[in-house]
Amino acid sequence: MLTLGIETSCDETSLSVTAGRDVLSNIVSSSVHLHKRYGGVVPEIASRFHVEYILEVLDKALKNSGKSLKEIKLIAVTNGPGLVGALLTGVSLAKSLSLSLRVPMIGVNHLLSHLYSAFLGDAERPEFPFIGLVVSGGHTALFYCRSGYKQKLLSQTQDDAVGEAFDKVAKILKLGYPGGPVVERMAKLSKDRERVKLPKTFLGTDSLDFSFSGVKTAVLYYVRKNERLMDKELVRDICYAFQENVIDDLVEKAMRAAELREVRRIVVGGGVAANTRLREKFTDAARFSGGVKVYFPQKMYCMDNAAMVGVLGEELYKRGCRSDLHLSAEPNLEVVNA
Ligand code: KG4
Ligand code: ZN
Repeated sequence: MLTLGIETSCDETSLSVTAGRDVLSNIVSSSVHLHKRYGGVVPEIASRFHVEYILEVLDKALKNSGKSLKEIKLIAVTNGPGLVGALLTGVSLAKSLSLSLRVPMIGVNHLLSHLYSAFLGDAERPEFPFIGLVVSGGHTALFYCRSGYKQKLLSQTQDDAVGEAFDKVAKILKLGYPGGPVVERMAKLSKDRERVKLPKTFLGTDSLDFSFSGVKTAVLYYVRKNERLMDKELVRDICYAFQENVIDDLVEKAMRAAELREVRRIVVGGGVAANTRLREKFTDAARFSGGVKVYFPQKMYCMDNAAMVGVLGEELYKRGCRSDLHLSAEPNLEVVNA
């Protein structure tokens, strides 16, 4: 069964052709270069980019897969959460194709598709139940994933998402956008790993919620206070301290959720899951836990892409889910607890 995946929730225009976990093509065209000078995604620019390039990306996705539109049996599209103007382009294309090709269409939640990106390709597929941790530019949340696409939201961030915190810290340190990859690179070069101390966020002993605005503000105050000392070395040490701080929090809460729910598997998805230090720390924590196993998507599937929409859409379809032409773009679409 061939599924056409469509993802336009933020600044990546992506289309894919998938068959189950096999990715025949996955084209991602990003407008990130247009947002760099603003230090974050400008919704209007992202929307215009999708409208301008989506058909070109569709052509490329079909060409690279060696398939034609006639062979597509299902259209899976991200319908939220995300930027409304951006989502609308993908949803409109999905509706037109579904109507003209007379094939079913299914709307997919962006957060969940990040989690199920771990099911793509050759990597070992996690069994249910597992704890799902979504770490992206727009969201940070923990789920208990019970069985075939049934999940319960356990906790989420009370303020910034972790990717957003990486982006804002990079902006404070004038490192450019997007912040995640450059902060990771700088942190790796840090020579004095004890020099900068940042406060730990504490939301109560029992809380699995996240909060990243405190540590981001602490970086801002540290930079203001030490303005005269700022040089390359100090920037690297700040990046190190920030990255350790937020990663420790993510690892600790995901491990605690696994313990509380008596689950031995954790799946991490979203742009920040590309971070090598995050992967190392999770792997270490799992080793010491005596039995917990952590699964990550292949790095190329961590950032926004259509293949993860296709794989989840197909599974939902097989379980009887369908969308009709009333499917709307929902900027604040929530994950339904099932
Ligand atoms: O999942 P994603 O592509 O888009 C959203 O759904 O938000 O994630 C983008 C986020 C950005 O905030 C970016 O800075 C972050 O993922 N990111 C990283 C890394 N690569 C991307 N954060 C930390 N380390 C990385 N290597
Ligand atoms: Zn995303």
